[in-house]
Amino acid sequence: MESIWTLGSRGVAEYAPLDGDTEVDVAILGAGITGLTTALALGEAGLKVMVLESATVGAGVTGGSTGNLYSTLASGQAPLRQKWGDKVAAEVVQARDKAVAHIEALVDRLGIDCRFQRLPAYRLLTEDRQHTRHNLNDELDALISAGLDAEMAEGPRLPFDSWGIRIANQAQFNPLHYLQGLANALLGEGVVIHQHSPVREIDADKGLVWTDTACVAAKHIVQATHTPKGISLLQAGMLVSREYALGARLRSGDYPEGIIWLLDPLHSLRSYRHGEDRYLVVVGEKHKTGEHHGDHYQMLREYLESRFDVEAFTHQWSAQQYSSPDGLPYIGRMHGHDNLYMATGFAADGLVWGTLAGILISDQILGHDNPWQARFGARRITPGKSAMQYARENVIVTKHMVKDYLGTEKLDDFAAIEPGQGRVASVDGEKLAIHRTPEGELKVLSAVCPHLKCIVHWNTSESTWDCPCHGSRFDTSGEVIEGPAYHPLARPKGLD
Ligand code: FES
Repeated sequence: MESIWTLGSRGVAEYAPLDGDTEVDVAILGAGITGLTTALALGEAGLKVMVLESATVGAGVTGGSTGNLYSTLASGQAPLRQKWGDKVAAEVVQARDKAVAHIEALVDRLGIDCRFQRLPAYRLLTEDRQHTRHNLNDELDALISAGLDAEMAEGPRLPFDSWGIRIANQAQFNPLHYLQGLANALLGEGVVIHQHSPVREIDADKGLVWTDTACVAAKHIVQATHTPKGISLLQAGMLVSREYALGARLRSGDYPEGIIWLLDPLHSLRSYRHGEDRYLVVVGEKHKTGEHHGDHYQMLREYLESRFDVEAFTHQWSAQQYSSPDGLPYIGRMHGHDNLYMATGFAADGLVWGTLAGILISDQILGHDNPWQARFGARRITPGKSAMQYARENVIVTKHMVKDYLGTEKLDDFAAIEPGQGRVASVDGEKLAIHRTPEGELKVLSAVCPHLKCIVHWNTSESTWDCPCHGSRFDTSGEVIEGPAYHPLARPKGLD
């Protein structure tokens, strides 16, 4: 099943994968919201821009997002205020507000049909009003203090009792249709987009980017890849997680409007209309990438059925999140290289952060001052606000290294792997990632992640190999789906 955003997909003029060496002003890796927002600003400024996408436009996390656009953070305004204080919490809201307005202006100017609409957001409780562990008063106070139009309110037309906070004037759209609209506008600006062109190496000193078949020389290299490729110190402090989404039709035909965060426990809801058909979208069951606890889609189905009269489940998809050590994204020039840029640490709020990243990075390349560059800069160092998460994530990585290297069970016979199953096992001393397709074909790869040598884990919900250390993910043929790894899982030595 695909994401609901593929309904009525418009497609993008097909460019063949890059197959010859070339020279550009700016090479952008990734055709998600960060990459295409950056590309549009630079293309319109007259620079020669090339976008290299490993799959297709929007196939990564943008196309797997919620389509919700909001000025606060999904994790709440009060925790942000507590960590950073009033001034920074208000700056975050102002910057995100500006990014949502940027999207709205582009939709308008380029005539992108992506169902953009202004709607309220809700943070709601459903349990006994007298006995709640969430302090909504703090949250409301933080939202108002940051300049948002928020008030206590009942929930919007839900089939169960709910109450909480209503935040006016937020927005929703179809993220994939938006990207396809941006991509088609870019082609008119002379920007070249090469799909199916994964980047295998960057040499920032020489300003070179390699795919499997070609080399691009670029004055500026933008890693719009959700997390920087290769090795970066920041990866050591990122919390990498996955979240799941379902689309469903309801018997009642009554679909709630707005961005709805149910807080007990955290799930997000929204509705979507395609033609005459309406759908409810639910997102939740978040877990750390590479640490799986059963069938996450089934858990989400059960959650939705416990609250709504579901007629049919129609879509399912998932997406990855990188939560930064100090709670704010890292955007712009990287340490050590003035020609290399990144954008990461968007947590669950990537559509708006990605748009802001496109604005900030294009401003840096064009030499325009931007008041947000210092606040969200990729070179900032904030030990007082990030040390805890660095320490926690490094303990987790070390634990995985020790447990996965010492604790992998031995396998004597591949016949033990059932159709549809995946398992990591030791065979002749080598750690192997072994999968049998539902049709019975056996696929055997090295289980050693090519990024920094952790052992990948099988993800039953998505039939992928996921690395618990920094979130690289691989398909059953070993190809990189996302994450910092440049290269696919290797073929095992014994089978070469
Ligand atoms: Fe870093 Fe796998 S993603 S070791």
